[in-house]
Amino acid sequence: MAAVVRWAMLLLAIALGLLAIPSEQAFKDAASAMPKIQKINSQGPYLGIISPNTFELNPLLNSSSYSASTSLPYLDILGRRFRFGKVHSEKVIIVMTGLSMLNAGITTQLLLALFNVKGVLHYGIAGNANPSLQIGDVAIPEYWAHTGLWNWQRYGDGPDDELALEDSGDYTRKLGYLKISNYTVNEAGNGVSNAYNLLNNVWYQPEEIFPVDGTPEERQHAFWVRVDDHYYGLSAKLLNMTLAGCVNSTTCLPRTPRVHKVGRGISANVYLDNKAYRTFIRSKFNVTPVDMESAAVALVCRQQKMPFITFRAMSDLAGGGTALSNEASTFSSLAAQNSVDVLVEFISLVGSSS
Ligand SMILES: *[C@@H]1O[C@H](CO)[C@@H](O)[C@H](O)[C@H]1NC(C)=O
Ligand SMILES: *[C@@H]1O[C@H](CO)[C@@H](O)[C@H](O)[C@H]1NC(C)=O
Ligand SMILES: *[C@@H]1O[C@H](CO)[C@@H](O)[C@H](O)[C@H]1NC(C)=O
Ligand SMILES: *[C@@H]1O[C@H](CO)[C@@H](O)[C@H](O)[C@H]1NC(C)=O
Repeated sequence: MAAVVRWAMLLLAIALGLLAIPSEQAFKDAASAMPKIQKINSQGPYLGIISPNTFELNPLLNSSSYSASTSLPYLDILGRRFRFGKVHSEKVIIVMTGLSMLNAGITTQLLLALFNVKGVLHYGIAGNANPSLQIGDVAIPEYWAHTGLWNWQRYGDGPDDELALEDSGDYTRKLGYLKISNYTVNEAGNGVSNAYNLLNNVWYQPEEIFPVDGTPEERQHAFWVRVDDHYYGLSAKLLNMTLAGCVNSTTCLPRTPRVHKVGRGISANVYLDNKAYRTFIRSKFNVTPVDMESAAVALVCRQQKMPFITFRAMSDLAGGGTALSNEASTFSSLAAQNSVDVLVEFISLVGSSS
């Protein structure tokens, strides 16, 4: 419903020439897509399915549960491909973001602005910071945060000193910090407790958000973003799913992978392959999946008041394994498939719950 209104407003803006589209080609693409978008939306609402890249997208497109629309299988708009079809009997729009937060945010916002979407399901693979989970397991966090917005404190200042621009409300010390000198080691590999480091401290910051039901240009702040209540409740029914545990007849994981509801996941524009940071971020924020997109999807959905949930399969230990185990390359396809299997099962639950 809301998406129809948003679409109508966009169409109006384009018709009136109000929309600042930077290139003429982009304008033509968007304008020529409008009648098709209108038709698609009249057949909605849809579940919006967001995948980070082709590695995770392909197993979904290949799933026997997915059938592409025969009349209009996809529409390319502003550099993104929106695919239409059904998973089980649920109408879906599937879109791939590309790597990292900016791409994930843009794509999610486009999906919600253009289409009649009733909920967003995000899925993919992730690094695992939680020692009680195993590669191949699928984590469903209740909260997501973007941990890449920092205030980097000047050398000489410490936790008792105000941060730059803290008094104007731009930055805060309430989420805590990473102390870089804590990670200094001597030649024997032992920690040096009284070390100094010019890189000093990095303070985590909440995101500035502008919710659709707020006053435009009046900022609010958000760090932990909760997934949708109904979706999170429904996901309990996924916990007894049987997931794949072998890549072939001889290479298997130590135990059969499982689905877990977990507390928290984090995202940032960082590929995490570092054991010290993994351990720190786990003890600081109690996180399980670590990825590069989910929190961007969460923050957009939060602002657009759109229900969402994320399924992330553990594909590596975010630097926590040994250098030789090379877990990411051996098990990442299996993890991608497991995330798709959980997504597909969840869609059938959404179908039968409505
Ligand atoms: C689908 O699966 C087939 C057989 O496993 C494979 O050859 C093909 O590349 C897959 N297609 C996609 C889009 O992943
Ligand atoms: C730095 O290390 C000390 C000693 O291990 C610890 O108590 C403190 O919490 C650490 N500080 C930060 C910000 O990580
Ligand atoms: C999970 O258990 C429920 C009963 O508690 C059952 O109805 C459902 O079919 C099971 N699902 C799977 C995938 O085993
Ligand atoms: C199974 O997969 C592993 C890891 O990719 C590989 O080293 C091994 O050769 C494969 N074995 C068979 C029988 O295909």
